[in-house]
Amino acid sequence: MVSIHDLPTPALLLDLDILERNLRRMSERAASLGVVMRPHIKTHKSLEVAGLQQALGICGITVSTLYEARVFAGHGFTDVTWAFPVILTRLEEVRELAERITLRLVVDSPEAVDALERLGVPLHVWLKVDCGYHRAGVDPDSPQAVELARRLAEAPTLTFDGLLTHSGHAYNGPGRAEVAAVAAQERDVMVGFAERLRREGIAVPAVSVGSTPALSVVERLDGVSEIRPGNYCFHDFTQVAIGSCGVRDCAVTVLASVVSCRPGDGRSVVDAGALALSKDLGPGRPQRPSMGEVFADYAAGILDEEVRLLSLSQEHGILSVPRPVGSRVRIVPNHSCLTAAQFDDYAVVRGDQVVDRWKIWRGR
Ligand SMILES: Cc1ncc(COP(=O)(O)O)c(C=O)c1O
Repeated sequence: MVSIHDLPTPALLLDLDILERNLRRMSERAASLGVVMRPHIKTHKSLEVAGLQQALGICGITVSTLYEARVFAGHGFTDVTWAFPVILTRLEEVRELAERITLRLVVDSPEAVDALERLGVPLHVWLKVDCGYHRAGVDPDSPQAVELARRLAEAPTLTFDGLLTHSGHAYNGPGRAEVAAVAAQERDVMVGFAERLRREGIAVPAVSVGSTPALSVVERLDGVSEIRPGNYCFHDFTQVAIGSCGVRDCAVTVLASVVSCRPGDGRSVVDAGALALSKDLGPGRPQRPSMGEVFADYAAGILDEEVRLLSLSQEHGILSVPRPVGSRVRIVPNHSCLTAAQFDDYAVVRGDQVVDRWKIWRGR
């Protein structure tokens, strides 16, 4: 068996014990909140991780690209929500996929509803609602939102699945109390809008919510049907900073080697740049910005507070301390979804042993 100490770098390590614990915890939370899971697989893009999620009980999966939808459809995942405002230049692919699986689309505009109606094939459609993030989604207080829901409910070829939102503003933290307020707002906005539609005579079959921070703290989800957490399987330093989890709950780390250390510079260079870690700055911490956090002792879950990753270029990472060339560092990324999307596969580890390699299916 290969030890992580013998791996070529940069390598993306996936700690199986932590992954399994994260998956189990969120499933237990879903059960206690009375909702079903439709995990977002864009974080891991792995058939093996999705298999573990499926074994714990899910109603389907969520994807962010049609490529992910096709790959997972080809491997037995037959109920898929593409949780991205439908891209009108991709409707032929939509038509082809919807013939093979239950593909659920997301819309927030009359133009998208027009285009789906013109396509003339049976399609499942969620109405995307803005619960306060202000990225996409209809304003639930607007008359246009009710009209769009009515159109979806009445369109002969479309099945209205219900209301869907994403509380991305939960990532603004800064702490658990603020995240809990966002989670409560997400629920209240969605349940309130669903009730309003029902009063208007529009049936709302389901309400779908979720972000990992909100779901880590939310206390009740009555009126909600399903949750779509993604990042919870891996977590990352952003989740640690806003209080969703601890450092020992971060399942994905980047193993890097020191490749240069010029005498007297006080710094060193590692082989993990933006194409390993991404340029996500992570949580706002102006006093101590870092492009990732370096472990002092991985097994004990202790970060090296002295070391920062000062900057990244394409393949270079600049460490704030001198380290001998050839030595290694293990880095918790700021954003594990973007980090995983830079690699071809995971080195799946238990302790220091590599027990498997799992492909990362990335594509648009
Ligand atoms: C539409 C949508 N749903 C669900 C999620 C999952 O959120 P998280 O990764 O915070 O669990 C995301 C993440 O970006 C998303 O965009």
